[in-house]
Amino acid sequence: MILVTGATGNIGTELVPQLLVKGQGVRVVTRDAAKISRLDPRIDRVIGDLTDRATVRRAVAGVERVFMVSLIRDPSGDADRMLIEEAKSAGAKHIVKISAMRGGDGQVGPMHRDRETAVRESGLAWTFVRPGVFMANTLGWAPTIKAQGQVFSPTGTGKVAPISPFDIAAVAAEALTAPGHDGKAYELTGPELLSVPDQVAILSRVLGRPIACIDITIEAAADRMKKMGAPASLADGLSEFWRTIKAGTAAVQTQDVERVLHRPAQSYETWCVAHKAAFI
Ligand SMILES: NC(=O)c1ccc[n+]([C@@H]2O[C@H](COP(=O)([O-])OP(=O)(O)OC[C@H]3O[C@@H](n4cnc5c(N)ncnc54)[C@H](OP(=O)(O)O)[C@@H]3O)[C@@H](O)[C@H]2O)c1
Repeated sequence: MILVTGATGNIGTELVPQLLVKGQGVRVVTRDAAKISRLDPRIDRVIGDLTDRATVRRAVAGVERVFMVSLIRDPSGDADRMLIEEAKSAGAKHIVKISAMRGGDGQVGPMHRDRETAVRESGLAWTFVRPGVFMANTLGWAPTIKAQGQVFSPTGTGKVAPISPFDIAAVAAEALTAPGHDGKAYELTGPELLSVPDQVAILSRVLGRPIACIDITIEAAADRMKKMGAPASLADGLSEFWRTIKAGTAAVQTQDVERVLHRPAQSYETWCVAHKAAFI
């Protein structure tokens, strides 16, 4: 049995069906039963909050491997440490943890490094999956695209190589089900370096409608995030990352998707086609 935390998130929703196709027993945990009401009936479910020890104990009972999406809204890291501790007590053998790619990742990177240390120190087998910027972040542009055909960006023409959550999930699924991934850390990017205006141009072509890309300051973008309820630490960490992107030093592309999956990483255009409905 594999426990999938973050099962309703960008990576988790891609991971669960991939594990089922591989014939694995899967348990998911969510705070909101409605989000998983349409899941395949073969899937085991735990409804609860991973900051609550009783929920964590129910989630890890009888699992051999854990897919762990760190709770970034728990800056203390206590919930992650509790999950690691309870998984070990329940007899789990391997944790596959989602982290973030090294370099230029503001305060989010150090947060993941601390939690990687906690996984390493547990004595369990581990694999760290460290993605760069998700293609799915584009979903955050949907409200202003739908309302006014505009995207507001603080990163100028700075480029990153966005990665599809489908590919992140595929690497995680491999690490959870095949031998040879213990003690490995994979840094994952997509196949092409793109600025926000480049991404907007591709999305605009896929949607068949014009979308304007409007430059805003990093301070204005952080204020927007805070007003939408993001913790100040997260908005500040992202601001630092946006500065790195804008300066051009986050323009990094890796080959780890191909190395693990023996196929190329998916293009941004493929992601846009698959998620077109979210922007209409
Ligand atoms: N976005 C990026 O560009 C990027 C880049 C590198 C790394 N990352 C890392 O990727 C991770 C996020 O992955 P994602 O995008 O797949 O997730 P996501 O879409 O942000 O969803 C968060 C998931 O965590 C679950 N969750 C949150 N708090 C919980 C709690 N207290 N108890 C139980 N479940 C809880 C949510 O479940 P319910 O709401 O159903 O309970 C949901 O499934 C973060 O660690 C982030 O730092 C992101």
